[in-house]
Amino acid sequence: MLKEKVLKALNEQINAEQYSAFLYLSMSAWLEEKGLPGFANWMYVQYQEELTHANKLFKYVNERGGRVELKGIDQMPVEFESVKSVAEMTLEHEQHVTALINNLVDVATEERDHATISFLTWFVDEQVEEEANATEILDNLKLIEGEGKGNGLFMIDRELRQRKFIDETQAV
Ligand code: FEO
Repeated sequence: MLKEKVLKALNEQINAEQYSAFLYLSMSAWLEEKGLPGFANWMYVQYQEELTHANKLFKYVNERGGRVELKGIDQMPVEFESVKSVAEMTLEHEQHVTALINNLVDVATEERDHATISFLTWFVDEQVEEEANATEILDNLKLIEGEGKGNGLFMIDRELRQRKFIDETQAV
């Protein structure tokens, strides 16, 4: 049985992952409209990944006999300044999620909930990849600033079109 504090923190994380999913879906819609299908695809895959994160937490809470409490999802931003600002927001958001996961591990540690600490290791590792992916896109966008911007953007967009969804929560 999960202790109350751990259950509350896990439920908050389910909400945070669902928020992330819809944030990226909203970004995907904006990018699609701006004629950047590769960036839009990358964000759509990101949306799918975030749903699997929420679902992984959902299943864990159920497994431990806790009650999942679904909260509402806020209104998403609809307009974005630029592709670069979308990339910056993504990195900032992932850094925020990393802080939430670290806090969750702290709560589980305080409550001496070793099973939850072990379960959260996957999320700790995943956040390293999440931040690295967002940083890479931002770095690429910074590289093309200035001359040849349109051409560079086209090249990055073409590359991001290749990203495919893989449910990493199913990997051992
Ligand atoms: Fe579920 Fe992007 O962290």
